[in-house]
Parts: sequence; C-alpha cells; structure tokens
Amino acid sequence: MSVTIKTPEAQDKMRAACQAAASVLIMIEPHVKPGVTTGELDRICREFIEGPLGCVSATIGYTAGGSRPGFTGAICTSVNHVVCHGIPGSKVLKKGDILNIDVTVIKDGYHGDTSKMYFVGEPTVLARRLVETCHQAMIKGIEQVAPGARLGDIGHAIQTFSEAAGYSVVREYCGHGIGLVFHEDPQVVHYGKPGTGFELKEGMTFTIEPMLNAGRSAVKELPDQWTVVTKDHSLSAQWEHTVLVTASGHEVLSLRDGAL
Ligand code: MF3
Ligand code: CO
Ligand code: CO
Repeated sequence: MSVTIKTPEAQDKMRAACQAAASVLIMIEPHVKPGVTTGELDRICREFIEGPLGCVSATIGYTAGGSRPGFTGAICTSVNHVVCHGIPGSKVLKKGDILNIDVTVIKDGYHGDTSKMYFVGEPTVLARRLVETCHQAMIKGIEQVAPGARLGDIGHAIQTFSEAAGYSVVREYCGHGIGLVFHEDPQVVHYGKPGTGFELKEGMTFTIEPMLNAGRSAVKELPDQWTVVTKDHSLSAQWEHTVLVTASGHEVLSLRDGAL
C-alpha cells in the first residue's frame, strides 16, 4: 500500500479543491425542489464547476480504472433506495424524496470530494432520522482522525453508532485516499475494530463517506454498471467529507459554513 503524504503546499491545493466542491453543494441547494430532474441539477452543477469555479469535473468520463463505462455526470444523484453513484438523467424529484449529491472537482491537479443529503419538500420522520443518523455517524468517524489513530478506530466509531441506532452499514463501498489521484490508498471502510488497520500520519488526506441503509446492508449494482441500490429497496443515506490529518488532529477540508 502506498499512502501519499501531502506537503504544506499540496495541503493548500487540496483545501482549495475541497472548498470548490463544497461550494457546489451550497449553490445547488435552492434548486433541489419537487419537479426538477436529476439531469437538470447536473447541468446547473456542471456549468458552475466549469464556469465560475474554473475547475474540471473528476467524474465526467471516469471509468474507475477502466472497469466501468465512463460516468456521464458532473455529480452523482442518488435518490431514496439508491446507495451511491446514481447517474443524473430524466428522473423527476418528488415531495418526500431524499437525495444525495456527490461532487468531485479537480483544481490545480488536486481532487476535492464531498457529498450531502437533501430533502425534497418535507421528509418522513423515518427518512429524517436515517439522514441525521448518517451525518452523525460521519462526524463520529471524523472525530477519530489524528496522528497515531488507526483506520479501524474510524470504522468502529461509525459502525457502533449506526448499528445502535438500528441501521446497517454498507460494506462494498468505502472512503479513500485522495490527492492528485481521485481514489488512492488507503481504503477507509466504515466498520471495524479499534486499534487495528493502517496508522494515520500527519499530511494524509482521505475521505470518510459512510452509507447507511434503513434495512439490510446488502446492495446490488444495476446493469448500467454504476447505480448501486439496496437489495431490499430500503432507504439509504450517505454523507462525505475530505479530511486532512494535522499535527493536533484533523481538518475537514470540505467543510461548509456551520455544517458540522
Ligand atoms: N465521488 C464518489 C466518491 O465519493 C465517486 C464517484 S465516481 C462516479 O468516491 F463515477 F460515480 F462519479
Ligand atoms: Co464522493
Ligand atoms: Co469519495
């Protein structure tokens, strides 16, 4: 496993890329309304990324190392029982839907990756609780990040909190190292045992992006080779931040104002 350590200059570029990605999630919020299509949200995000932000989308044309057809969106739009990697298109959002928008931009060569959940109109009590629990689970994971901590500490914090709330943690997809490369070592799984796994060091950057299902943890990939859904069609939620390991602990590079 080769985990990169970012120099202070690289850390500055990572912060800039992550803040650009975060600004996309803020910009799109008022557009998430009943009646809009996921394709329309994608178009608005793409114009913002390539226009005022002066960035490149990391997801358009992305093939995950040649293993999949090129992704067509500047964002992933994952609605209700879609766990992750939903492809923007003709799907019309309706009142009560929950939606994850996941955006990754490249700025000055560096990748910034972050996602958040949106409510379309008023959510059900169950949907709100799932979404809020997933956000809290991500924070529990982030709180573990410090030099000398291990990846198992992050996974354990997320898993125990989520399962105590009655939800299941998706195992097939995980967080990842990030920098000049979109998905690099290490793999950051969202379950595990404390004191195990790779030891964190100052200057590492990686994502924490737990996916929680209201039902069972099993997922399946649709024939489009991207869209991941819950096997039992239960609701699923995800939040994602890119974090930097600092001397004293961590910095959430993709933080939006007041979002933690
Ligand atoms: N942004 C996703 C992640 O958090 C990856 C999306 S790849 C895509 O790692 F091709 F589906 F966009
Ligand atoms: Co992402
Ligand atoms: Co990611």
